[in-house]
Parts: sequence; structure tokens; C-alpha cells
Amino acid sequence: MHKPLIAGNWKMNTTIDQGAQLVMKLRELLKGIQDIEIVIAPPFTSLQHLNFLLADTAIKLSAQNLFWEKNGAYTGEVSGEMLRAVGCEYVIIGHSERRRYFGETDETVNKKILAALREGLKPIVCVGETLEEREAGRPVEKVSAQVRSALNGLGPGMVKDLVVAYEPVWAIGTGRNATPSQAEEVHDSIRELLYEEYGMAAVNDMRIIYGGSVKPTNIDSLMAQPNIDGVLVGGASLNAEDFARIVKFEKSPER
Ligand code: 13P
Repeated sequence: MHKPLIAGNWKMNTTIDQGAQLVMKLRELLKGIQDIEIVIAPPFTSLQHLNFLLADTAIKLSAQNLFWEKNGAYTGEVSGEMLRAVGCEYVIIGHSERRRYFGETDETVNKKILAALREGLKPIVCVGETLEEREAGRPVEKVSAQVRSALNGLGPGMVKDLVVAYEPVWAIGTGRNATPSQAEEVHDSIRELLYEEYGMAAVNDMRIIYGGSVKPTNIDSLMAQPNIDGVLVGGASLNAEDFARIVKFEKSPER
């Protein structure tokens, strides 16, 4: 059984002060929770300060991106080593917004995953089909291809800390979430692929989480699916009460 992972992707929201206010509320609301892994991904500019505010809590930090080189003349970029130094344990890689607005491809996503693992960061790798691909009946095909190229060159010993986030593009920020059974179908196919590539031992460790309009109102039914090991929350993670409710999802009897 996987420990559920509930992660908040703050995207390009919050100044340091706004982030600190949100974290102070989360500290209160999420005190004492141990059976869920809780992660927040604020903007780069807040990481160091929030790391300090989270020091005595179980809430972990993630970055939203990294560059694959160790250091050098890459104006505007941030390395894995820098992220580790400000307290990040996780890093989101290949979010659909980065693929769409910043030219990220399956190839750059693969390079970033290798760099993250080299620096001891746990990658949260985002994949997901567009509306056209879903309507053409090919979500599983598209997502499988993305997962295969993302993991190109990674051996079974390297993937246990890697998280796959299935985020259908049409469900992000639209208020239109995948139904639990739509999400479950794709998660099940990802699990099968991981099993074929890496065997049972690795798959027992790897988590597959869902993202796309996750809210307090749909979290319980999503988390009741056997292959949904957690969620990546965008908009609702900016509201402390909503995010706390999502973390405290109602556990179905199997969990
Ligand atoms: P929303 O929850 O706002 O749809 O965003 C999902 C997302 O992109 C998380 O990475």
C-alpha cells in the first residue's frame, strides 16, 4: 500500500508574505498528520523562507521546475543543487503549462528527471492528454508514450522515488475534473507500463497521483480508486481550508 501523497502546486502565485500567511494557516490545520505525505510547491522566490517556517513540521517542499545542468552560464535557470540547498525534497517536472508556454518536450523532461535524481531530488513527473486526444479515444496511448520517453534510460534501481502525476490537460484550471473512473483507467495503464518496465518491486514504491480541478468536493471519490495514490492540486491549494480538507480526505475501507 502506498503512503498517499497530497501536493499543492502554487504555480505563479504568492509573494513571500502571502506564502508565509498560507503556510502559517496550514501549520495549524495540518498539525499531527502522519499517515499522509504533504508537499507544497511555492514559487522559487519563497522556498528558502518557507523552508524555515516549515522546519518543525511534516510538510515538505517541492520546486516547480529545475534546469538539468549543474551550474554555468544559463541565465534565469535554477539547478537541482540550488533547490536542495533551500530545502526541497521534490521537484515538479514537465507540467503541461511548461510544455505549452515554455517549449518543454519529452526529451527535456527526461533530461530534467535525470538531473533531479542525480541531485537527490524526487521528481513529480507530469503527463496528460489534450482534449483532442481524449476525444479521439487515445488518452492511454498518449500518456503511455509520454511516460516511456520521460523514463528513457532510467534503470529499476533509479525509479522508486519517482512520482508520476497524471494531469489531463483539459481538466487543469477548468473546473472540469476527470471522473474517478476516467482517472483510474489511465492510472491503471500507467501502473501496468511501470510493472512491465521495472518489475513488481519498483512498482510497489512508485506512486501515481492525479491532478486537474481537484477540490474538497471530489477528493474522496478520487482517492477511493485503487490506483490513485494521491493528488496534485492547483487552484484549491491556495486556500488553506480547502487544501487541508483535501489532505484529510475520507479514507475508503481498503486504504
Ligand atoms: P487545478 O487544480 O487548478 O486544476 O491545477 C491542477 C494542476 O495543474 C496541478 O499541477
